[in-house]
Amino acid sequence: MTDHLTIVTHPLVQHKLTLMRDKNTSTGEFRALLREISALLAYEVTRELELTTRAIETPMQEMDAPVLKGKKLALVSILRAGNGLLDGVLELIPSARVGFIGLYRDEATLKPVQYYCKLPEGLEDRLVIVVDPMLATGNSSAAAVDLLKAAGATNIRFMCLLAAPEGVARMAEAHPDVPIVTAALDKRLNDKGYILPGLGDAGDRMFGTK
Ligand code: URA
Repeated sequence: MTDHLTIVTHPLVQHKLTLMRDKNTSTGEFRALLREISALLAYEVTRELELTTRAIETPMQEMDAPVLKGKKLALVSILRAGNGLLDGVLELIPSARVGFIGLYRDEATLKPVQYYCKLPEGLEDRLVIVVDPMLATGNSSAAAVDLLKAAGATNIRFMCLLAAPEGVARMAEAHPDVPIVTAALDKRLNDKGYILPGLGDAGDRMFGTK
């Protein structure tokens, strides 16, 4: 994957995203759509995984058949909204290892501070897919990738539902080696850091906390 930003324009993704954006969509529907759309995004983010072959026997004859090469990949969710993307991705890649990074924003410095981090071992040998539905300012995403690189990861991709130009620019500056896969690039952030037109607070909408 060479492009820094990939927008998944598949009609199913775009249709489901519109339903998710609609403020009248219920929590249950939002959650189901999120699961479906994250599987479709995972399809794109894993498009260039390396393959090797394994000798098998079909009922007809022997063959060398393609299988994924290397260690199981790692999914890393940025808490809490990233968790909403896990089920859909795991449906496609059930043996992936899963890590979690929790960050909050220090109101004095406005910088992300880590409050939780549990990562799979051997990150240096795995493709690491970071999941967070909203790439807004890019501060927490950049901080999460800092952490992953410090833990040894070298092959990292970022998967989100929506990206703001500000977040894409921040990631391009901090981590130009990390390709981003998203369903849409929206217009801009508002003064509270929410994406416009966006879909509101992704965590609140998927967990029904508002
Ligand atoms: N996080 C959200 O949940 N929504 C936004 O619009 C931006 C960040």
